[in-house]
Amino acid sequence: MVKGPKFYITTPIYYVNARPHIGHAYTTLACDAVARRKRMLGYDTFFLTGTDEHGQKIERSATAAGKTPQQFANEVSSLFRALFDRMNITYDDFIRTTETKHQRGAQELWKRIQEKGHIYKGTYTGQYCVYDELYVDAAGPGAPCPECGRPTETVSEENYYFKLSAFADKLLNYYQQHPEFIRPETRRNEVIAFVKSGLRDLSISRSTFKWGIPVPGDPKHVMYVWLDALSNYCTAIGLGAAEKAAQEKFARFWPADVHMIGKEIIRFHCVYWPAFLMAADLPLPKTVIAHGWLLFEESKMSKSRGNIVRAETVIDVLGNDALRYFLLREIVFGQDGAFSFDALVQRYNSDLANGLGNLASRTLTMINRYFDGAVPQPSFLGARKQTDDAIKDQAQAVISEFARLFDEYQFSRALEAAWSLVGSVNKYLVEEEPWVIAEKIVAEKEGEQNKARLAAILYTAAEALRIVTALAHPVMPEATAKIWNQLGLGEITKFNLADLKQQMEQERTTPAPAATQSSTTSAATPASAGQGTPPGQPVAPASPGPTGAAPAPKAAAPDGKITIDDFLKVELLVGQVKAAEKVKGADRLLRLEVDIGTEVRQVVAGIALAYELEPLIGRKVVLVANLAPRKLRGIESNGMILAASVGEEGKPVLAGFLEDVPVGTKLK
Ligand code: MSP
Repeated sequence: MVKGPKFYITTPIYYVNARPHIGHAYTTLACDAVARRKRMLGYDTFFLTGTDEHGQKIERSATAAGKTPQQFANEVSSLFRALFDRMNITYDDFIRTTETKHQRGAQELWKRIQEKGHIYKGTYTGQYCVYDELYVDAAGPGAPCPECGRPTETVSEENYYFKLSAFADKLLNYYQQHPEFIRPETRRNEVIAFVKSGLRDLSISRSTFKWGIPVPGDPKHVMYVWLDALSNYCTAIGLGAAEKAAQEKFARFWPADVHMIGKEIIRFHCVYWPAFLMAADLPLPKTVIAHGWLLFEESKMSKSRGNIVRAETVIDVLGNDALRYFLLREIVFGQDGAFSFDALVQRYNSDLANGLGNLASRTLTMINRYFDGAVPQPSFLGARKQTDDAIKDQAQAVISEFARLFDEYQFSRALEAAWSLVGSVNKYLVEEEPWVIAEKIVAEKEGEQNKARLAAILYTAAEALRIVTALAHPVMPEATAKIWNQLGLGEITKFNLADLKQQMEQERTTPAPAATQSSTTSAATPASAGQGTPPGQPVAPASPGPTGAAPAPKAAAPDGKITIDDFLKVELLVGQVKAAEKVKGADRLLRLEVDIGTEVRQVVAGIALAYELEPLIGRKVVLVANLAPRKLRGIESNGMILAASVGEEGKPVLAGFLEDVPVGTKLK
């Protein structure tokens, strides 16, 4: 398979001094949403998270817990991992700084910096904040840490120093030439001001405790935990590895595209880290994006305040999707934001239950009830109204708006845009009253006209639902995967998001519906909503549906025609029906077993009203063999049988041959 462009995103690696809380969950799920969207857009994505396990802080926490640091780290690290697994985080690697591959890689980075002459030995006497693992310059004994306010400790020891002061100008130049390196703008300004105020050389080893990675050639020292930790972004993908595959991975994925972090660790990521990389002659990450803090109501979460919120609490009650949606919708990314249970419940009710939940359940229930579970064709018989077009136009606008905002990390506004469509479609359904039209059909007054109108409304709603579902998938992976499947579209992770826009555009340029036209259509699915096509549109380019709205594949000529290459993408095979039975609860559907030479395929076809079961057995049919599977009434359909759709009722007539044709023969 051809790989798309690469995309490498990381979370900070989390300290294992305490179990994870909702703040750690926040960064991780924001990265997960970005990674999922990139994958859906075809990027060869690598998403890294993990735990930061060395240093004095962890050593002390372990001692306090009566454990060895390794034992302690194992336990807490596994809590992070279990939480992320529970949260459905699609990390590609979970790095632990106690892993051999990391230790080897961190030492390799050290050696490269050292070989280039940027490390020297000295002694450090000054203040140190163990909580932040931060050297606090120009402060007297007992002074509070400028970051966390805790008292600093006086450290006096032999250390190795990194010549950070030599990199000030280079860093400033880099910031200037790469404005996208630090985001948002306010953080960038802070970093620039910090560097301009002067950089002192940085102590990068400690020699008064043991819990760390030994300094190459001088194991009395362990590496400063921030140098150790930052190097994880390189070591996880192969820096320092001897194996060829790991080296290739490093060459492919480094530099990272995004390091996502909380605002409190910006200095480490935007000053120290780029300086280390420059010193080692390695390329710099493209963007460091810092978000704000999640506060509990108005205050910072802390053990002593007893106000730490756990992600599990929310997941237990409302589920994963609710937690993910809430955090990305409620908090303006980049700014501090308050977590409150009231706001969570309110959002859950308004946006999820009454919003998307209501839209999905109404639309899918009506499609099941009135159209045997298959999304109906877009309107014909002139049943289309201006209100339908208004929804379509809004949906079109939302696709671009969502992309623009999400790719700018404005998750909240992107979701707001998508949910404005949810609101409009729910309102549209209330106003158009499809359930009233359905009752009229039952009463058999103006049946055809009403049927067409009902189809138009449900097609419009289903199409908008499909769009919101695809856009929201990276944020709410579980619910959207279910809705997608219920729409008959198969597996959502296989859908290429880039096609979303295109399909809308194609639909607009297709000719107006023709009421009485009878043409070949797909009978396998009454209104075949194949994967990768909008609901209601036939899939096989050879068979435009009654609306004439067959989607033109990507390289369509401007006049709506397709090229021979496009046509050849459709694999048409001669098959023979081996078994046929009715599908329970669906008047129009049959489950067929069709022999195509190499295998017997199960296909669900909308031909029950036109064919008896018995005569079908042994009959040769034409099968679209390379359609992605989809489920109809819970039965997987692996392909589509071609049939003409005759008259206004669209009566299916199976395509066949006058001569005898062997099973498995290709049509072209
Ligand atoms: N181990 C370092 C990072 C090393 S990265 C090379 C560290 N770990 S941490 O456990 O303290 O995690 C800090 C990160 O967790 C923050 O930068 C942020 O991403 C996330 N958050 C922790 N608490 C948070 C909030 N209350 N609100 C938002 N994010 C929070 O620093």
